[in-house]
Amino acid sequence: MKYAIETFDLTKVYGDFKAVDSLNMKIEKNSIFGFLGPNGAGKTTTIKMLTCLIPPSSGTARVAGYDILKNPDEVRQQIGMVPQKVSLYEDLTARENVEMCADFYGMPEDLKESRIEELMEIVDIKYAADKPVGQMSGGQQQKVSLVASLIHQPDILFLDEPTIGLDPTTKRVLWDLIDELNSSGHTIILCSHDMYEVELLCDYVGIINQGVLAAFDTPQGLKDTVIKEEESLRAKEIGGILDRIDKETPESERRAIQEIKKSERVCAGKEISMLIVNLTDDLISELEALPVTLDVKKHHTGRIILELDETCETAVNDVLASVIRNNARITSISTKDPSLEDVFMKVTGR
Ligand SMILES: Nc1ncnc2c1ncn2[C@@H]1O[C@H](COP(=O)(O)OP(=O)(O)OP(=O)(O)O)[C@@H](O)[C@H]1O
Ligand SMILES: [Mg+2]
Repeated sequence: MKYAIETFDLTKVYGDFKAVDSLNMKIEKNSIFGFLGPNGAGKTTTIKMLTCLIPPSSGTARVAGYDILKNPDEVRQQIGMVPQKVSLYEDLTARENVEMCADFYGMPEDLKESRIEELMEIVDIKYAADKPVGQMSGGQQQKVSLVASLIHQPDILFLDEPTIGLDPTTKRVLWDLIDELNSSGHTIILCSHDMYEVELLCDYVGIINQGVLAAFDTPQGLKDTVIKEEESLRAKEIGGILDRIDKETPESERRAIQEIKKSERVCAGKEISMLIVNLTDDLISELEALPVTLDVKKHHTGRIILELDETCETAVNDVLASVIRNNARITSISTKDPSLEDVFMKVTGR
């Protein structure tokens, strides 16, 4: 079995509203899949169908090799789920909640207790194991929910916005845990609005918009598509400007312009942002004149932001070499490549 999940025209209709519209996607076994989309796009609805919580209106899916319509019990045995809204029994303690889950999956007593201890230790919730869930904070409840979902060592783990409300330390613990689970053979489906998290963890990303799968690729593949689209857009814009200049320029300059046109290597820029204590106008002019520089902006905070030619591999080096030559002192520096957020905005039209 190559795929952990395969959907076949999976559709969910509420009244006359299509929440999920003929979804067809394949998620490779042992991968981490990031499921993105604006609020109300259909992520949770899809996950609910894949975890057999709600039936599809039409179409179907195979999860861990089992059909969600024909073999829902087998599907349930293979999956774990951290829902978007924590669904624990508030009057029961954390331990009692997790024990109930373990019993549901028929786990043997000795294994059950040792696994609860181990998982509670990993996500750091052991100190509150005997506290009623209703008296816990949101983040603490989220941790209990995670322990409950992992108790039976499922092959496929569905996480619907699992890090929402977690503090930065716990978030990192969870990211490490997701990574470890994946390394030990688990497939993870991660719904998230956190682009950093998705980029950090996911092998593949799907973007759903108004119930329709709008994009599916590796994070880098999605970014490359956006770069290429912007590249050709900008090349077109520049071509138009050059054509207009063409008509009014003398022969010698026209030839130079033709050279630029031929290369057409202008594209969506890589950004480099620097804070330089002894920044001079001469240095700014030199940076502006570098062949790799497309644009230079000086921010009111003193930061300069350079947009660089993405296609030039030495772009960042060239900028740094120029700064060093001028004995300028950088106190802070960061670079920015086109991000998944750019892809998200483009694909969902927001
Ligand atoms: N039980 C329901 N009855 C009617 N409409 C529903 C129901 N559940 C969800 N919807 C609608 O289906 C659409 C998709 O909802 P869903 O919860 O799947 O979105 P989502 O992508 O998970 O969004 P979010 O990022 O906000 O969690 C929404 O427009 C929602 O209002
Ligand atoms: Mg949701």
